[in-house]
Amino acid sequence: MAKKRLIILGCGGFVGSHLTDRLLAEGGYEIYGFDLTDKKCAQHRGDPSFRFRETYIDGTNTEVELGHLVGDADAVVSLAAVCNPAQYVSNPLFTIKSNFIHAYKLVDLCAEAGTWLIHTSTCEVYRRTVASYLPDNDYGEPSLYEQIEDETPFVMGPIAKQRWSYATAKALLERYIYANHTERGLPFTIIRPYNWFGPRMDFIPGRDGEGVPRVLACFMTALLDGQPMKLVDGGTARRTITYIQDAVDALVLMLEKPERAKNQFLNIGNGANKISMADLAQLYAEITGDDSYHSYPIEHVSGEAFYGSGYEDCDRRVANVERAARLLQWEAKTELRDTLRITMRHFHEAYGKAEIDQVAA
Ligand code: UGA
Repeated sequence: MAKKRLIILGCGGFVGSHLTDRLLAEGGYEIYGFDLTDKKCAQHRGDPSFRFRETYIDGTNTEVELGHLVGDADAVVSLAAVCNPAQYVSNPLFTIKSNFIHAYKLVDLCAEAGTWLIHTSTCEVYRRTVASYLPDNDYGEPSLYEQIEDETPFVMGPIAKQRWSYATAKALLERYIYANHTERGLPFTIIRPYNWFGPRMDFIPGRDGEGVPRVLACFMTALLDGQPMKLVDGGTARRTITYIQDAVDALVLMLEKPERAKNQFLNIGNGANKISMADLAQLYAEITGDDSYHSYPIEHVSGEAFYGSGYEDCDRRVANVERAARLLQWEAKTELRDTLRITMRHFHEAYGKAEIDQVAA
């Protein structure tokens, strides 16, 4: 049987490298991968089913880099973009460019060729809940604030809060894709990931990157360095945390069952793994099982002090994943404690601290 030909933009990132690992292990795919670096997928150098091109697709070179490939591809998987809240605040222009300006020409190209575009958007498009703006923050029943793909409104934050530069650009790209579907017949799938966690996510400041990574790597940095974990604005924000391999399962099912995934918006998250950031920090400390850690208190910081002015937070990201479950017959199986245990062990191994994981399940 002929191999499926895929273009993966961002194959060298956290999600892209895990997806590439899985697809090459399963076989049946010929992958054209693009990224700024192949550090996270260097294990595939020399694999005849994987061709890597070191470049950044920024709109000006989309046609030159991809024009000859898109028409013959079974799908284009788009994963490359800035997705780091510290950068939304400190560099909103690049955030908007990366998430919209650099990306929309790929949508045009796929529409012209009639090629299926699988685009990873974000659960952040829903931004804050309506309840978070009400004086008493009355959330009501949990089911009332679950985010449902075509029902839950996107609550735009104030322009003065640069945090929302990312969600705005992401939502506009979703609109652009959907408009291309409606007017030009572009086949698409829009994925809204809910805090996918796992090995290789982000970087550790001072070791293999600079700046403020996302919460997983922030807490890991604190644990590796024996410093307090910093809890932003009381740690009341809630997330739905999803193990990367469960997310990759969903992506593979989409590729295996295109007719089920095409022309859908899909939340991809583990509905059982909902947690506040305060409880997440506690779980990190427990799983580390390093007694010396407990002598370092959690430090409370304001969002403004931690990220800079212009930061606001998504208060509750609660995934409703019924649609993905029904269409793909998919279920995220990995519990939060196991997700953290696997991920933390990887970070400790990769960044050099031996003690880990003494806590009973
Ligand atoms: C980011 C992106 O904006 C989303 O698009 C993406 O879906 C998501 O990451 C993801 O990882 O999938 P967010 O969850 O807000 O969104 O990013 P994090 O930096 O991981 O922050 C999560 C929460 O932890 C926030 O409430 C943040 O204020 C808090 N936090 C972060 C801390 O309490 N301490 C820290 O050291 C870092």
